Amino acid sequence: MSHEFSLTSIPDLNGRYDIYGAIHKGLRKAGCDLLARLGSADFQNVEETAFLIEDLRHYLMLAASHVSHEDDHIHVALAEKGVSTVLLDEQHDDHRTAFRELEELIAAWEKAWPLHRAACGRKLYLAFAVYIADDFAHMHEEEAVTGPLLWRNFTDDEMLGIEMRIIGSLPPEKSMAFMRIMIPAINPAERAALLGAMKKDAPPEIFQAVIDFAVRPGLSEGDFARLAGALKLAA
Ligand SMILES: [Fe+2]
Repeated sequence: MSHEFSLTSIPDLNGRYDIYGAIHKGLRKAGCDLLARLGSADFQNVEETAFLIEDLRHYLMLAASHVSHEDDHIHVALAEKGVSTVLLDEQHDDHRTAFRELEELIAAWEKAWPLHRAACGRKLYLAFAVYIADDFAHMHEEEAVTGPLLWRNFTDDEMLGIEMRIIGSLPPEKSMAFMRIMIPAINPAERAALLGAMKKDAPPEIFQAVIDFAVRPGLSEGDFARLAGALKLAA
């Protein structure tokens, strides 16, 4: 797959609604963390690698889910405005092929004889590296090219509506899983804005569950204290 983009044409947000920002930061950080773990893993050690494989499958499930949210909600909305999403659709199809191939490589490691485990692990590491490289280029296309197309065709309220339809389509445990990868990946101002909106709109027990299970475990003590101050959380 080839990607053509100019690094100097990255648009400024200029206060516009950024539908891709937080989730793409989350996918980038979680993908890089996993790549580093796959690089340093002892694939001969079945017990240790099993945890890594579980996290990798979880990441691939979230990535596949993210791709279909964009198809169903963002690409459909653009198509209704007569805007072509052919390139993004092809890239999403490439992603689905990569998800199948990565699952085959995971299964190959699981079934491998002890002597073959290290070689299977190396194949998986390389395949995951090239998948996230492709995904980084693809997400760049979405943020540098599709983002401005969205701004031209939709108001910020309409964009918020698209995002709310995506969030509304998710079962609670999946929303929580997305929050767990997004919160440590975004900056303090973004965390305060995202969670401030949630504090205002969500039932208090849901907000508290997000803080306990998706926010606090992923932040350092200092980052959590800064966020708690911004959100005026009770100590
Ligand atoms: Fe995408």
